[in-house]
Amino acid sequence: MSESKRNSECVKYALTRRRFYDCTMNEKLLYTAFILLMGLGYLMALTYLYTGFEYIDGKSGLSVQDIAENYYGNRSGTTLEAAVRGPMSGYISIRERHHVMAWLKSGATEKGYKKTIRPILAKNCLKCHSPSSGMKIPDLTTYFGLRAVAQVNTGVSLQSLMKISHIHLFGIGLVAFGIGMIFRFAVLPPPVKYTLTLLPFAAIFVDILSWFLTKQDPVYAYTIFISGAVLGAAWAGQMFISLYQIWFLSPPKD
Ligand code: HEC
Repeated sequence: MSESKRNSECVKYALTRRRFYDCTMNEKLLYTAFILLMGLGYLMALTYLYTGFEYIDGKSGLSVQDIAENYYGNRSGTTLEAAVRGPMSGYISIRERHHVMAWLKSGATEKGYKKTIRPILAKNCLKCHSPSSGMKIPDLTTYFGLRAVAQVNTGVSLQSLMKISHIHLFGIGLVAFGIGMIFRFAVLPPPVKYTLTLLPFAAIFVDILSWFLTKQDPVYAYTIFISGAVLGAAWAGQMFISLYQIWFLSPPKD
């Protein structure tokens, strides 16, 4: 092989197999700044998630239950049902309560309200549950007032789910791409490197798919939890390995 041919092979090899120690100082600074900023963004997102989701199930601390209720809702009962079975049960006879339950089961229609429910409420409840009582409690004098406590909670609407998922896919996808573009200079055994490169994308996909699945069945709240943890771990791996190799890994001697 001629001298110049060998030189050009060397250059080609060096260009295709660039590592962090081949990067210029300018690149190293750029990568470090990006990783630190995205790390901060990730911590912010976690804090926001925790504080925004923590109390959905009425208890402190983020749990699978919070996630399930956010997407699936709480379909085991309405506020009205809980009230006439619980704290308001003393104001209603058993027979009247059956009427209320049957009405709820049949879809809480306005027709049924006018026929059977309004007289029951007028007799038992409106002395307190009307604006004239001055109490800050649900106004049950109208059908619409009653609807507010007779609605089954089915969680986030499909419309807003589609809105947040496309924003997340574009936004988080780009962040994953940016971090992955930096991580590609890392020195690692190829299987580890390929896995770590693909993992964030797989986790984002599974996470967002699970939002829609959880809307159908709350058991998928576990998948959301697990894919979120996998994303965090994969990103932490990419970021720490990159930062370490940018500043501490020196090229091999030969
Ligand atoms: C003596 C007054 C009084 C009467 C009569 C009364 N309520 Fe109430 N109701 C209250 C008060 C006070 C609250 C708020 C405190 C609470 O939630 O326990 C309330 C709360 C409610 C709530 C909201 C519960 C929640 O979790 O937000 C519903 C629904 C309700 N009542 C339904 C009824 C129905 C139906 C009747 C008639 C069968 C009725 N109430 C009769 C005083 C009354």
